[in-house]
Amino acid sequence: MSPSSRAGSPPDVGVLMPAAGRGERAGAGTIKQFRPIAGVPMLLRAIRPFAAHPRVRRIVVALPPDIVRRPPGWLAEVAGERLVLVAGGATRADSVAAALAALPSDCAVILVHDAARPFVTPDTIDAVIAAAAAGHAAVAAVPLGDTLKRADGADAAITETVRRDHLWRAQTPQGFPRALLERAYAGRRGAATDDAELVERLGETVRLVPDRTSNIKVTTADDFLLAEALAAGAGAR
Ligand code: CTP
Ligand code: MG
Repeated sequence: MSPSSRAGSPPDVGVLMPAAGRGERAGAGTIKQFRPIAGVPMLLRAIRPFAAHPRVRRIVVALPPDIVRRPPGWLAEVAGERLVLVAGGATRADSVAAALAALPSDCAVILVHDAARPFVTPDTIDAVIAAAAAGHAAVAAVPLGDTLKRADGADAAITETVRRDHLWRAQTPQGFPRALLERAYAGRRGAATDDAELVERLGETVRLVPDRTSNIKVTTADDFLLAEALAAGAGAR
């Protein structure tokens, strides 16, 4: 645990959680953010470590518009008065923008975390808060372990082996001083795959914070199998 992120610091962190996607790649059935992993809805797993963190003052969750009108009871239970619900937008960035607009002014530090990452650990949250509270934009990330191949054609023939030196996989949470993230979203043009990219476009430095590989993003039906195994492993420890 980083001393600067917990001990004696005021609760000044706002968490924006985009949870308004349609989960199309995860297949039919319950939308993926509400699908249970070892009996616990994925969104609830994603919120819990933030709700338990002493520096978190607000948690703004962007939900599909029809669900904002009738949210599940466990949402209020996990976060109480700190919880704010908003309708998300057509893209992830639209949903983050809606959550940012709804964040009360009492948070100087902002974390953005995907509802589709239910295994974030307190040490990663601590490290990202510490960086953002020190004035830096920061991204939880993992150095690439696999060899990368490029295949441009329809026949999937390899055209290049991409050197993986210095390559990282960007995850969430991503943390920002509030004014910086607001500036990035105010000037938003075109698509962006994550929040850090918008800050990079301002010419501002964004730092990587080493994260765990277990902080996976659940995207496909296969990922739910992996998630069940991770949840079982966590329970066994
Ligand atoms: N998200 C969102 N609003 C959108 C699209 C995505 O809040 N319009 C959220 C998702 O709910 C998820 C996170 O952004 O927590 C990352 O998106 P992704 O994993 O792509 O989820 P989905 O967009 O729901 O899945 P898919 O792309 O397969 O439809
Ligand atoms: Mg998506």
